[in-house]
Amino acid sequence: MSNVAVVGAQWGDEGKGKVVDWLSERADVVVRFQGGHNAGHTLVVDGVTYKLSLLPSGVVRGKPSFIGNGVVVDPWALIDEIERIGKLGVDINPNILALADNASLILPLHRDLDQLRENASEAGKIGTTGRGIGPAYEDKVARRAIRVCDLADLAALDDKIERLLTHHNALRRGLGVAEIDGVLLKAELLAVKDKVLPFAKPVWLELDRLRRENKQILFEGAQGAMLDVDHGTYPFVTSSNTVSGQAAAGSGMGPSAVGFVLGIAKAYTTRVGSGPFPTELFDKTAEILTDRGREFGTVTGRRRRCGWFDAVAVRQALKTGGVKGIAMTKLDILDGLPEVKVCVAYDLYGERIDRLPASMTEQAAVKPVYETIAGWSESTFGARSWAQLSANAIKYVRRIEELIETPVALLSTSPEREDTILVQDPFAS
Ligand code: GDP
Ligand code: IMO
Ligand code: MG
Repeated sequence: MSNVAVVGAQWGDEGKGKVVDWLSERADVVVRFQGGHNAGHTLVVDGVTYKLSLLPSGVVRGKPSFIGNGVVVDPWALIDEIERIGKLGVDINPNILALADNASLILPLHRDLDQLRENASEAGKIGTTGRGIGPAYEDKVARRAIRVCDLADLAALDDKIERLLTHHNALRRGLGVAEIDGVLLKAELLAVKDKVLPFAKPVWLELDRLRRENKQILFEGAQGAMLDVDHGTYPFVTSSNTVSGQAAAGSGMGPSAVGFVLGIAKAYTTRVGSGPFPTELFDKTAEILTDRGREFGTVTGRRRRCGWFDAVAVRQALKTGGVKGIAMTKLDILDGLPEVKVCVAYDLYGERIDRLPASMTEQAAVKPVYETIAGWSESTFGARSWAQLSANAIKYVRRIEELIETPVALLSTSPEREDTILVQDPFAS
């Protein structure tokens, strides 16, 4: 039995939450290892919808859950989410949730800076979630972040705040906004610390113990490979590595702990925010995908851009992420389309290429080369076995497997937890 990492293989919102929730039945613990509350993972269990941003999707089943050191944590958002999920009957307490004591915090000043930059000019807009993710990671890498453990070290906190504000207040003066008062920031942190610190633990140590007890660990990625800060459509990316390699570093385990990497891909493509999207559609099909797929962001409510499946981008994502099998989601949304297209290569200035280039200009210039596949009129919605899928739907899945050079391990056919077809058990691989 191996551990499993679940990572997005497109631009996020592939259905990671649903798949993690489904897989977590077989897991002993679930671990988030990067990103923050920019993530929006939706789970539907017996008709009840749970929307999670920071909490690992295993909590809905009451699985012990960990927020690893690679996550940036907004303490106020964490408390809000614990309260919100509590109202749906899910009790989050320190027995089931541990927060890495060495994780960096997102502060209100990070959110301010994210939003100020986004609003400064249309040209430079990334279309971020506005939650301070990028600025918080910048401070972490620049070695001036305030971390979870610092909330317990009041003697050192003043100096840390001063160091942080020396940087941020210079920026704020340049941007023409009011400076931050260190005394007020400290008071805000003190007001929140007693709610956060009970969850703080050396997560790496707990995970090491669980690993030695042969417990099954499920790593839950956020965002997707095309939003990875190195491998994605830079600079239109998030500020963390989203690929499976980060599961080890972002939780405090070695790479051999990660095990089977399951990539999640929708049967078509969506993207929220700015940046290149070679297979984007602007026609009636785009409307059908958006409306039928309910493609509106979980976090910001923004309409997601929609397009055909891009086998070139997904193949690249699977290779950079070491993905061994995929979970294909939302096949049902294509039901009833007379024909379906798949991007099999790109045309770059008249030349056929089979990878997404690194350059921003070339990424914007690639044109999709399509293969057209016959659609299917029968419903796949809610199917729980291959026998319930029409021949053309199966042909579509099989063709994608060929193009991405990776087998489909799971197929999801509705938002509901149980509407899932298992082909290959990732934990048994
Ligand atoms: P995540 O960020 O990767 O967890 O994905 P989101 O939760 O943001 O977006 C995926 C959406 O699709 C959610 O509303 C899910 O409930 C829904 N969903 C997941 N799998 C399926 C599926 O197979 N069919 C349909 N129709 N909806 C699905
Ligand atoms: P889940 O986990 C889709 C996008 C934003 C923006 C870019 C940078 O639900 O798949 P950020 O706030 O991270 O600095 O924004 O990344 N983005 C997501 N898009 N799903 C997500 O998470 C995303 N998290 C960030 O829209 O384009
Ligand atoms: Mg999402």
